[in-house]
Amino acid sequence: MTTNPTWDPAQYLRHAGHRARPFGDLLARVPELPGDPPRIADLGCGPGHLTAVLADRWPTARVTGYDNSPRMLADAAAHAGARLDFAHADLAGWAPEETYDLLVSNAALQWVPGHLDAFAGWLDGLAPGGTFAFQVPHNIDAPLHALMRELGNGVRWKSRLGHVLRHEDSVHAPGVYLDRLARLGCATDVWTTTYFHVLQGDDPVLDWVKGTGLRPALDALADDPEARDAFVTDYRDLLREAYPSAEYGTVLPFRRLFAVAVKGA
Ligand SMILES: C[S@@+](CC[C@H](N)C(=O)[O-])C[C@H]1O[C@@H](n2cnc3c(N)ncnc32)[C@H](O)[C@@H]1O
Repeated sequence: MTTNPTWDPAQYLRHAGHRARPFGDLLARVPELPGDPPRIADLGCGPGHLTAVLADRWPTARVTGYDNSPRMLADAAAHAGARLDFAHADLAGWAPEETYDLLVSNAALQWVPGHLDAFAGWLDGLAPGGTFAFQVPHNIDAPLHALMRELGNGVRWKSRLGHVLRHEDSVHAPGVYLDRLARLGCATDVWTTTYFHVLQGDDPVLDWVKGTGLRPALDALADDPEARDAFVTDYRDLLREAYPSAEYGTVLPFRRLFAVAVKGA
C-alpha cells in the first residue's frame, strides 16, 4: 500500500522536457471532442504546465486540473486563467460532478491504488463520444525500480522502507486496461512505447527518480537525514552501475503505457 508522497514541484520539473513528450504522444491520439465548447479534466495534474497545454490544444475548452498535493496545486495556480482552473481532489474517491468530454491523466494513476475499479464511475461522467486518455509508466521491472526495491527490502532498510515503495501491481498489464475499457463500452487503443532519454549532468537517473519514484523513501526517512543520505548514496552507486554514463550523456530507457478509450454513443 502506498499513499501520495510529498511532492517537490521544482525537482519534478527538472526533467520537464523528457516527461512532457509522452503527454504530446497521448494527445496526438485523442479524436475530436463531442462538446462545444468541450469540458476537460486533468486527473493528477501536478504543477499544471501540461494542464495548460490542454487549454492551448482546445482553445475554447474549460479545463480543470485535479490533484491532492498542496505543493503541486500551489505551483499549478500560476497557470490558472479564464478557462483553466485547479482544484483539490483525491482520485481514490473522485467521481465526476458534471459531464466531461475529455478525461486525461498523465503519469499519475500509478500512485492511485485501485484506479482500475474507478474507471466505470469516471466513464459515467463522460459524454457519449467523449474520450478517457491516460499514460502511466510501465517500467516497474526496470533497474531504477528493481534496485530501489532490492535495497529497500534488504536487511538494513526493510523495517523502514519495505512497505512504502511502489510495488509491481501499481500498474496493470496493457491487456488488463484494454479488456476493462472495452467491456465498459469504449473503442480502446492501448500501446506501449519505450523512450530512450539521454540525460545530462552527474547522476541524472538519481536526479530523475528524486522527482518521482524515490519520494516515498525520502518521506519515510525525512526525520533521519543521516539515514536518508546513506540510503540515497547506496542507491546512487547501484544506479551508476546500471546506467553508465557515456561522453554524450546517460541513457535512461523508459517504457510507458498509453490508453485512449472513446465512449460509445
Ligand atoms: C508524476 S506527477 C504527474 C503530474 C502531471 N500529470 C504531469 O504529467 O506533469 C503525479 C501527480 O499525481 C498526483 N496524485 C497522486 N496520487 C493522487 C491522488 N490519489 N489524487 C490526486 N492526485 C494524485 C500527485 O500529487 C502528482 O501531482
